Amino acid sequence: MSRRKFLIAPSVLGADPLALAEAVESLKGRHDWLHLDIMDGHFVRNLSFGPAVARAMRRRWPEAFIDVHLMVDRLDVVLPLFLNSGASLITIHAETEPQLLHAALGSIRAAGLQAGVAIGPATPVEMIRPVLDCVDLVLVMSVTPGFGGQSLIESTLERTRQLAQLRAATRGYSYLIEMDGGINLDNAPRIALAGCDVAVAGSSVFSSPDPAAYLDKMKSEVKEAFDNAEIGADRQD
Ligand code: DX5
Ligand code: ZN
Repeated sequence: MSRRKFLIAPSVLGADPLALAEAVESLKGRHDWLHLDIMDGHFVRNLSFGPAVARAMRRRWPEAFIDVHLMVDRLDVVLPLFLNSGASLITIHAETEPQLLHAALGSIRAAGLQAGVAIGPATPVEMIRPVLDCVDLVLVMSVTPGFGGQSLIESTLERTRQLAQLRAATRGYSYLIEMDGGINLDNAPRIALAGCDVAVAGSSVFSSPDPAAYLDKMKSEVKEAFDNAEIGADRQD
């Protein structure tokens, strides 16, 4: 089994909105990316942040990898607001406007950013097949988009496996696989073994008394799972 890097992207939606900066500082730099959820009250039944928050994060943490997850309709209006907001990567949902998917992903890359495509738990992988060769990341939602604090939907792991197999079997596919929603210490090793490269975690990290230690523990549990899987594979050889 080839071991890939496992990244953690704490979602600031899980932090106290009045103490967002303190919450990020409490990670003590143990995170890999910072995940910022943008919700428009229409594509999902919730509202969250706007481009000013992305811009403020970029000002405060110039070196951060800011992973913006757009859960919005009207990409024609909302996407341009984020292209110069300091985001490192912008992910859009395949369900939003399928006929505009190539164009929207192209405009993200044309702005010099990485581009991601997301699928909700009910959307088949087939729907994003046509864009898999032009994305840097595929986001597999592991909960219904819109709210933090939900439980991971087990069947979504199968889609991560499917995307990992497709990537291994297809020349030109180099996307990272990200999972988002309900991720915690218990299930992080399983999603990593399924092929997830980037785990988004909000409430589990920020409700922990020591978020930095929580991230360390998540990384060490994932490493142990990979070690055990390799030992198991060696025994079978
Ligand atoms: C849900 C968001 C997630 C959310 C995850 O629609 O996309 O990024 O912050 O939160 P938890 O980890 O609490 O499920
Ligand atoms: Zn998200």
